[in-house]
This record gives sequence, structure tokens and C-alpha cells, in this order.
Amino acid sequence: MEILLDHFKHPRHRYAIPEADVTMPGGNPGCGDIVTIYLKVGDDGQVIAEASFEGEGCTISQAAADILLELVNEEGWTLDEVLETDYHLMEELIGEEAVRLRPRCATLALGTLKAAVTKYKRDRLREEAGLDRVT
Ligand code: FES
Ligand code: FES
Repeated sequence: MEILLDHFKHPRHRYAIPEADVTMPGGNPGCGDIVTIYLKVGDDGQVIAEASFEGEGCTISQAAADILLELVNEEGWTLDEVLETDYHLMEELIGEEAVRLRPRCATLALGTLKAAVTKYKRDRLREEAGLDRVT
């Protein structure tokens, strides 16, 4: 698909965020391909201020990451919106055929993004619990 090749060759969100609130590496053990997600979360602790990725891998895994993060950045998704998604979102973004034929490639970035959000929430809860003990 042309849109996949375009995002693979000219990614818009393929860079590291040095001051990221979360850095979450994700990999596909079957092939060794990698997508690392970076997240900056807004002061309200709910809205994703900036999301990016770095990675090495097949066209579908890398293009899917860029297309997914374009949506999250442009629409200003919340953390909870990320957790509510599933592979149907990738069907909408890159086509049902790509997801059916290459499910692990197509969902690597989404799975890693969800893991990043889960880690952020868990870390905040731990922080809050820690502060509670101190005060
Ligand atoms: Fe490894 Fe696609 S071949 S993620
Ligand atoms: Fe390698 Fe999809 S994981 S082809």
C-alpha cells in the first residue's frame, strides 16, 4: 500500500524524545524487529502531549508505528483512549488485509504504546503511594 511505503520512507514521528516521561521498548521475538515508544504526558496526567518512536524492522511494523503516532499526536489522545483501543484501530489505519496477513507486524507499535501508557500509570500510582507514606 502506498501510504505504508510513504510513512516507512518518510516517517513524521521517528525520533527520540530526550525528556520523555516514558520510554518503552517493544519487540517481536519472532523476527527481532523493534519499536521503542517515547511519551510526554501533559500536566493533567491524562493527555499525551507528544508521542514518537524509534525502531528497526519490516515496512509494516515501522509504517504502522508512524501512522498510529500521527493520529495520537494530531488528535491529542488521552492515556485512557489508548488503553481502550485494540487491533481494529490498526485495521482502520493500515487496512484489514495488512492486519490479517501480518498481525504481529501490524500491532507491534500499538501493543508497545499500550505498554508505555500502562507503565506511566503504574509509575504515577507508585509515586503517589510513596508520597503518601512520606507525608
Ligand atoms: Fe518483524 Fe514485521 S517482520 S515486525
Ligand atoms: Fe515477522 Fe510478522 S512478525 S512477519
